[in-house]
Amino acid sequence: MAEFRLPKNSRIEKSGTVHKAEGATSVKKFKVYRYNPDSGRNPHFDTFEIDTEKCGPMVLDALIKMKSEQDSSLTFRRSCREGICGSCSMNMNGKNGLACTTAIEDLKGDITITPLPHMEVIKDLVPDFTHFYAQYASIEPWLKTKTTTPSGKERLQSPEEREKLDGLYECILCACCSTSCPSYWWNSDKFLGPAILLQAYRWLADSRDEYTGERLDELEDPFRLYRCHTIMNCANACPKGLSPARAIAEIKKLEAERQV
Ligand code: SF4
Ligand code: F3S
Ligand code: FES
Repeated sequence: MAEFRLPKNSRIEKSGTVHKAEGATSVKKFKVYRYNPDSGRNPHFDTFEIDTEKCGPMVLDALIKMKSEQDSSLTFRRSCREGICGSCSMNMNGKNGLACTTAIEDLKGDITITPLPHMEVIKDLVPDFTHFYAQYASIEPWLKTKTTTPSGKERLQSPEEREKLDGLYECILCACCSTSCPSYWWNSDKFLGPAILLQAYRWLADSRDEYTGERLDELEDPFRLYRCHTIMNCANACPKGLSPARAIAEIKKLEAERQV
């Protein structure tokens, strides 16, 4: 797993604060990446001791406990706390995942928490998603049609057509896959990355969409699509069990078929 991205001209500072869990019987140590651009201080790791007897089971529970009891300046994103919103994606002990669906007891030893790899960091565990969202917008992620609605009411799908969206519509845009992909680390300026390509395929696979040709034209590019070299990290990283690699293979197949 790649490293988190350090801000320009900075290095990891050795000293960090240790927050003790006084009187605890069952202690788990968390080493958490800290960076505040306003402080003028280099990035560093703080250690938080958590009494697991007095904490919920998930890594997000531990982060919330740290913030409410030990250091209110600790910054991270979260919203739904049940794997739906995609906000709490981060790297825990070297693996990308959602803090709210990762159990503390499944992570052995001290737990190191860093932001998603190779993304600019705004503060602590909060990466900058601006470029990622711009790439998402670039694939025009909405139903595009040319004809008027046949029934005058809605565009119908058969159960079989609807089934083709399974494994695609569940994506929560957490970016765990894209930030685990070496091609995306090195070429994220031009390569769309697994998350956005899975989303692109979601519209190609939709029987109601009438812009398949135009969408394939947009993707047919040595960087946007073909920088995927089937490394497969993306499929292993997805906390929703989706396979962006499979979706990308399907796009490549559609591109190849229309050449024939
Ligand atoms: Fe997250 Fe999975 Fe969607 Fe990638 S495919 S953005 S890992 S939910
Ligand atoms: Fe990257 Fe997944 Fe392709 S890890 S190279 S997008 S198969
Ligand atoms: Fe919503 Fe974790 S808080 S996915």
